[in-house]
Amino acid sequence: MGSRREKMEMIIPSDFKYLGAVDAAVQDLARELSCAQRWINDFSAALIEACSNAIEHGNKLSKNKMVRVVVNLNGQQIVARVHDEGDGFDYKKYLSETSPPDPLSERGRGILIMKAFTDRLKYSARPEGGTCLELVKNCDAEAVPKAAAE
Ligand SMILES: Nc1ncnc2c1ncn2[C@@H]1O[C@H](COP(=O)(O)OP(=O)(O)OP(=O)(O)O)[C@@H](O)[C@H]1O
Ligand SMILES: [Mg+2]
Repeated sequence: MGSRREKMEMIIPSDFKYLGAVDAAVQDLARELSCAQRWINDFSAALIEACSNAIEHGNKLSKNKMVRVVVNLNGQQIVARVHDEGDGFDYKKYLSETSPPDPLSERGRGILIMKAFTDRLKYSARPEGGTCLELVKNCDAEAVPKAAAE
């Protein structure tokens, strides 16, 4: 189990209706790991947010642009990469943000949530244009084994 390797790749149109398919696929794949359902749900929530940002802010809901999602299981670590075809953005500014989000706005919390739900977030500008976001989560000893999960 510890050396298990799996890879999944999905290419979805820039429409929120495809987020459910990403969630279902990552849930199935992550069940290969002996981790609590809560841990899988946290990772999936972060991945769905990454895809939402790629669809909305990156590809701007364009029918001509796609979002590519690659998920790798490496032993007890899960790594996902979300690629969009947008214009890129100043992600360093958002990653280094230390002040709390505007309490009067319902938006602006996605990157904070992804940071909280993963062990590592890494943005990069794609040479061909667009943004790639890598999300890493370690199913470590603190995660409750599946058999003990509620
Ligand atoms: N893939 C991306 N391409 C271009 N800009 C992005 C991308 N991801 C995030 N952004 C920019 O970073 C900002 C912050 O993203 P974040 O997910 O934290 O908030 P939000 O999407 O605006 O609101 P929320 O996620 O709370 O609904 C976005 O408003 C957008 O300007
Ligand atoms: Mg967002």
